[in-house]
Amino acid sequence: MNRIQAPCAQCISGELRQLLTAAGRAALAAGQLIKQGYDQPHEITMKGVINLVTEVDLAAEAAIIASLGADTPGFPIMAEESAATHGQGNAKQFWVVDPLDGTTNFAHGFPYFAVSIALLADGKPLVAVIYTPMLDELFCATKGGGAWLNGRPIRVTGTGQLIAALIGTGFPYELDQTLPGVLRQLAAVLAKVRDIRRAGAAALDLAYVACGRLDGFYEINLQPWDTAAGWLLVEEAGGRVTDGSGGDYSPFVRSIVASNRTLHPSLLQLLQ
Ligand code: IPD
Ligand code: CA
Ligand code: CA
Repeated sequence: MNRIQAPCAQCISGELRQLLTAAGRAALAAGQLIKQGYDQPHEITMKGVINLVTEVDLAAEAAIIASLGADTPGFPIMAEESAATHGQGNAKQFWVVDPLDGTTNFAHGFPYFAVSIALLADGKPLVAVIYTPMLDELFCATKGGGAWLNGRPIRVTGTGQLIAALIGTGFPYELDQTLPGVLRQLAAVLAKVRDIRRAGAAALDLAYVACGRLDGFYEINLQPWDTAAGWLLVEEAGGRVTDGSGGDYSPFVRSIVASNRTLHPSLLQLLQ
């Protein structure tokens, strides 16, 4: 757990330090299962026309729930594949877990996917861990304690012009309802920036904004487990996160715009 030590040392409280340690341990355990499962044939179940889940998503989620349950007994867990059974109810503080963000990539052997774990308290993230097993990159952040990649502090870029910006995005599963709007925004952004990436894992895209590999990111129809951890990473790395209209962000709204802060107004303008 060496790469957790530096971020832990910067935590503003002992409680946050314990929570970060718990989230890091759970993410690494799940990451190991995901890495082992990567080259194996998968049992694929369809959740929608193009939205799939594999046996590894379920195993990773079970490992995270067991690990967080042992380290933080009594903390509710909202996890993607079992949201109904581990629902957070009216709790003010709960874990939000995406056991495998980028399942389509995983199922196709495209190695861009991650585990995402956040602790939300009163709707705001206090702790965030995003772990990408194939690159062995552990992103983490705590409120007031900075954002980190493998034990080193990270910052958003200083890019000031859209034409010099690399922007990430994603396409929702519900394209039958959203395609015209998605294409309109894509056309508006693509025409003004250096290039766009649709890499296929929203949590990791947000971590990439935090560490400066992307200058910004936007998407619609995401879920709390896709964005809760990445939101804190971007903010602690000096970036800005809002909803698609520039309003206060919440992982329970369905649009997100994240950026290095400088580009935020111009990116929002393109998306209107
Ligand atoms: C998906 C990925 C993808 C995004 C989708 C998400 P999943 O998560 O983050 O990049 O475009 O909207 O649902 O289903 O792989 O956990
Ligand atoms: Ca996801
Ligand atoms: Ca997932």
